[in-house]
Amino acid sequence: MELIPAPRAIQERQGPAVPFGPGTTLWAGEGTERTERWLRATLGAALGLPLRPGPRDARDGVRLLVDDTLEPEAYRLTAADGGVEIRGGGPAGVFWGAQTLRQLLGPDAFRRAPVRPDTAPAVPYQVIEDAPRFRWRGLLLDVARHFMPKDGVLRYLDLMAAHKLNVLHLHLTDDQGWRIEIERYPRLTEIASWRTRTKFGHRASPLWEEKPHGGYYTQDDIREIVAYAAERHIAVVPEIDVPGHSQAAIAAYPELGNTDVVDTTALTVWDNWGISSNVLAPTDATLRFYEGVFEEVLELFPADAAAFSEFVHVGGDECRKEQWTESVTAKTRITDLGLADENELQSWFIGHFDAWLAARGRRLIGWDEILEGGLAPGAAVSSWRGYGGGVAAARAGHDVVMCPEQYVYLDHRQAPGEDEPVPIGFVRTLEDVYRFEPVPDGLTGEEARHVLGTQANVWTEVLEDTARVDYQAFPRLAAFAEVAWSPLPAPADRDYAGFERRMAAHYRRLDALGVAYRPPAGPRPWQKRPGVPGRPIEGPPPNR
Ligand code: ACM
Repeated sequence: MELIPAPRAIQERQGPAVPFGPGTTLWAGEGTERTERWLRATLGAALGLPLRPGPRDARDGVRLLVDDTLEPEAYRLTAADGGVEIRGGGPAGVFWGAQTLRQLLGPDAFRRAPVRPDTAPAVPYQVIEDAPRFRWRGLLLDVARHFMPKDGVLRYLDLMAAHKLNVLHLHLTDDQGWRIEIERYPRLTEIASWRTRTKFGHRASPLWEEKPHGGYYTQDDIREIVAYAAERHIAVVPEIDVPGHSQAAIAAYPELGNTDVVDTTALTVWDNWGISSNVLAPTDATLRFYEGVFEEVLELFPADAAAFSEFVHVGGDECRKEQWTESVTAKTRITDLGLADENELQSWFIGHFDAWLAARGRRLIGWDEILEGGLAPGAAVSSWRGYGGGVAAARAGHDVVMCPEQYVYLDHRQAPGEDEPVPIGFVRTLEDVYRFEPVPDGLTGEEARHVLGTQANVWTEVLEDTARVDYQAFPRLAAFAEVAWSPLPAPADRDYAGFERRMAAHYRRLDALGVAYRPPAGPRPWQKRPGVPGRPIEGPPPNR
């Protein structure tokens, strides 16, 4: 079958296919309850099958069990002798096996109600052995630049599950918006969660969307998102970006900014793109304020929800230093702490939250700029400025998630030419993503073990709604999922033609799921944005 991501091994054997029908039963062993619920709710609804409870050894049955001789996320799916058995090394392995079963049942299994109630699907006689290459298989959604309402996030969790991705990095705060309710600081949602208008296109564009934009997740929305993800063995890693990318928070609470340099009471939530110079003041009051934010965040994102749920992302990227250079308060802080300069002040700021999170049993992760001043041993790094941050982090003994911008920033355009909507950055085709290698060259085996995995990042400055997010994310997220999951050879040796052939089947699944992907021949008329300026970068990206 045309599975994506490709499994490690498929043995096709001689024998009758296993039919699925109203009499198909479901037996779920201990530890497989989440997959049992998912199968009934999702596959059952799509195919109109009750999947009634039945005995363990039923013919015409599905059997789910945990077998700890396998790796935790590995599974073996056996379709033979009238039944399907999914054996997972742990509960997550069983769930990934169920995702494979759905693909084996054909594209209609990706709908929400039966469209061909009179035809019974069947799974070909076979055994599939599978396990992921990487443990962290992530997607970043930037819900700060453009808000994605809760239903959209839940839908993306379903799309991630269908591609065996397991970490949703939610970029919740930025200069242009604050998206999470913090009960003790109501102005973060009253003021910082919306802006009066928005730049339409790249920041050099003359166009404005002259209407308010905003939204936020209530604490119950967040609890729902985290629980929905955990049902699917997905961790949600929240990002609260400090000390840069903070203009929205400063607009709500002006005392957080560098009040001895600018009149922060005059600031508004930013309506344009770029990197704001309005950064947090390095004061004890600011630290206390954000400890209050993180206290609520830790409660909303429990450490034991799923693998990697202990991580909290603190941003740390692109903190402009001009206000600190001018600020007497910042200069005094540098002197009092015996620091060399503003860069060390930034690492002091991040280091504070590193220790604060570690004392609460959590782990800090931040963008690769946080390496610059040295980090506590448990902290991890998201390597986005190419591969260098990943190499430095792994050599310094830190865990790292590889998300180099020249390969897996999915806001970058996916084809040359005039037709791509609001074209940004380098041309990164489906094939480019398929040939992305997450592990940097030149690491020793020991260092390479610090590569937890990889992540695709979807920044949303020019993605104003979920259809635009779909267009940029798909089909490339399918190629990314295969890079993250499957044991692919070196980039030049990868069978892209074979992947494209399997994609023909996968487009039918995406159609059934209602994903507004970029068709191979280019955008549909309504997917274009004629006249809206982007910022294409010509030529190939810098290599590694
Ligand atoms: C980033 O793209 N500034 C992490």
